[in-house]
Amino acid sequence: MKLNQVGFVGWRGMVGSVLLQRMRAEGDFAAFGQPVFFSTSQAGQPAPGPVAELAAQGRGVGGAESASPAPTLRDARDLGALGEMDAVITCQGGDYTESVHADLRARGWRGYWIDAASTLRLRDHATIALDPVNLGLIERGLGEGKRDFVGGNCTVSLMLMALHGLFAEDLIEWLSVSTYQAISGGGARQMRELLSQMGALHRAAEPLLDDPASSILDIDRRAGEAVGALPDGPIGFPLAGSLLPWIDRDLDDGVSREEAKGALETAKILGGNGAAPPQVFSTCVRIGVLRCHSQAFTIKLKRDLPLEEIGGIIDGANEWVTLVDNNREGSLRRLTPAAVTGTLDIPVGRLRKLQFDGNGSENGGGGSVISAFTVGDQLLWGAAEPIRRMLRILTRH
Ligand code: HSE
Repeated sequence: MKLNQVGFVGWRGMVGSVLLQRMRAEGDFAAFGQPVFFSTSQAGQPAPGPVAELAAQGRGVGGAESASPAPTLRDARDLGALGEMDAVITCQGGDYTESVHADLRARGWRGYWIDAASTLRLRDHATIALDPVNLGLIERGLGEGKRDFVGGNCTVSLMLMALHGLFAEDLIEWLSVSTYQAISGGGARQMRELLSQMGALHRAAEPLLDDPASSILDIDRRAGEAVGALPDGPIGFPLAGSLLPWIDRDLDDGVSREEAKGALETAKILGGNGAAPPQVFSTCVRIGVLRCHSQAFTIKLKRDLPLEEIGGIIDGANEWVTLVDNNREGSLRRLTPAAVTGTLDIPVGRLRKLQFDGNGSENGGGGSVISAFTVGDQLLWGAAEPIRRMLRILTRH
């Protein structure tokens, strides 16, 4: 379909910045008419350099001449202005979606709403978009006239990309996942705070580090005191040199909101394949990594298969997932945030059958309980990528 004007909201934050970067790299701006940039705080001000350039390059609604040479930012709360868009892409966050989406629809707006926030994900009118895994569901939604498409939770999307083959073959009875989530999942301000915390730790220990005769227990004590003395920032707790075993809100039933999303969103994303969705149990943990979420899985398969066959199913499921041999060298080189950051790669490794009574032998013998580990850039497959691909799906539809 032809999209004349596409509005962008929340393009300055972590996910929005990565989204624009990816859209530029993939030439997405050539696939529709005019990008229009909205702001919740700077409406009427000139669009900043790189964004102004994108707007000026837009092909305009009626051709190049209608593209403004000096575009200004439009008001992201102006329902009239949003209502002129054929599609709105928002990375502004859930509060913005909550405050604008329903009113915009109530005015009769029939454009496409593409959102990174979780607000609408589980509502019936919305489809969670992760097209390598659920293109059929997306197309069915479009066919039924659905107009709200939302990117999934980062860990859920990365898990589904990693275990795509096992889900597609309906092999999973249940899975338990422990996450190791990067601070950029909490946004740009938390990312800045973690770096400041790391700096404070280093400053506390530095005089002793420079002295080869200093005691390691003194270094440990000073670093420990520095962590304890860290001021309250957006993270709210010391993270450098520590971890935080709770992400998002407390749902008062022993499960964090991030953990609840694991089961609920997986079921919805896979909702179209006819099979009962597998049970998913999550423990979500924030660690002091800047970018990339890692996940350790324990998986109960519905039937026992040789390990090599399981590896082949995982490896062949989509063009981004790769199986990493389960050895020290490969794991440390390829299965880390340092190796994966900034790439669309979804390595899966540490694949093995668990050795306990009744679960058979290590290499390909009996046993249907396996474990595996994956790493993915949560700002790419976990956030920006499904959204930019959803826009491309619309332009081809
Ligand atoms: N809820 C996720 C997190 C955001 O906090 O890590 C996705 O990156």
